[in-house]
Amino acid sequence: MQQKVTVVGAGNVGAMAAQRLVEREMADVVLVDILEGIPQGKALDMMESAPVERFDARIRGSNGYDETEGSDVVVITAGLARKPGMTRDDLVLKNQEIVGGVTREIARRSPDAILVVVSNPLDAMCEVARRVSGFPRERVFGMAGVLDSARMRWFIAEALGVSVESTHAFVLGGHGDTMVPLPRYSTVGGVPIPELLSQDKLDAIVKRTREGGIEIVNYYKTGSAYYAPSSAVVEMVDAVLKDKKKVLPCAAYLQGEYGMRDVYLGVPVKLGRGGAEQVLEIRLLDEEREALAKSAEAVRELFRILKV
Ligand code: NAI
Ligand code: 2OP
Repeated sequence: MQQKVTVVGAGNVGAMAAQRLVEREMADVVLVDILEGIPQGKALDMMESAPVERFDARIRGSNGYDETEGSDVVVITAGLARKPGMTRDDLVLKNQEIVGGVTREIARRSPDAILVVVSNPLDAMCEVARRVSGFPRERVFGMAGVLDSARMRWFIAEALGVSVESTHAFVLGGHGDTMVPLPRYSTVGGVPIPELLSQDKLDAIVKRTREGGIEIVNYYKTGSAYYAPSSAVVEMVDAVLKDKKKVLPCAAYLQGEYGMRDVYLGVPVKLGRGGAEQVLEIRLLDEEREALAKSAEAVRELFRILKV
């Protein structure tokens, strides 16, 4: 493969994302984790599936960073996953230490890489990676909106008995309880869902989308979602590697867009080989703007906890 992707964190999200990347022959992958033997074992196990799954991309596992040198994209999933009863915010200091350390190692060896942050609390960990790497904002962004809107799409498809492929969902804001799902920009076959669903059903879908992460945690008990999160990561990496200019909701560092500055927030972004190439601004109703401002304030609260 011509392209190289490093995935840091060989846990549930990282390993599943790595598997999807090599199975689709999107890039050669380096899988890094601090646990001895785990990234090496998972990488070898995946390579041994290659003859059956029929892919020729390569994956290597490592406990160090030398193999990551010259990566085009680095996905950071290292950290602790949320446990039942634990908010995303509880994770902030521990994961800051982990994500900060990982970013330092990566930035030294892949100074031109694009960083896709996954570790929680997502918006705060994006800020950690941005500050530690010193990379421009276009090259440090986070995965959350693709996951949140995929969840919303599934709930819409289920409620209406339609193909998920006919659905589109729009979610703004931070990856947390204050996220802002927008039904009027969410569609089925191009038709806004307020035309198709009662207010009660819309409210239920919005609530379930906001609580999508914790719903899975409550089932798993010892970990959080990873099938949908890894799919979301791979869609973003694909858009970058193929320079697709795909518009996807990403946690982007705002510099005046939506009237906000110096904060990561989920907004529609054009993703291409340059990373988060452009933030698309849409007109919001007053209540939507207020909800977004509230979400930004929740992210800023996390920034204040950061020890940087
Ligand atoms: P996991 O616990 O299965 O995997 C995390 C991995 O990180 C472990 O293998 C651990 O050994 C590794 N790790 C810890 N410290 C490290 C270090 N210093 N260097 C390298 N590796 C290190 O967790 P999972 O389910 O894969 O989730 C990973 C992170 O992603 C969590 O913070 C979780 O909350 C977050 N997440 C975020 C989502 C989003 O939408 N942004 C969605 C799903 C998960
Ligand atoms: C999720 O939304 C844990 O943030 C993760 O599933």
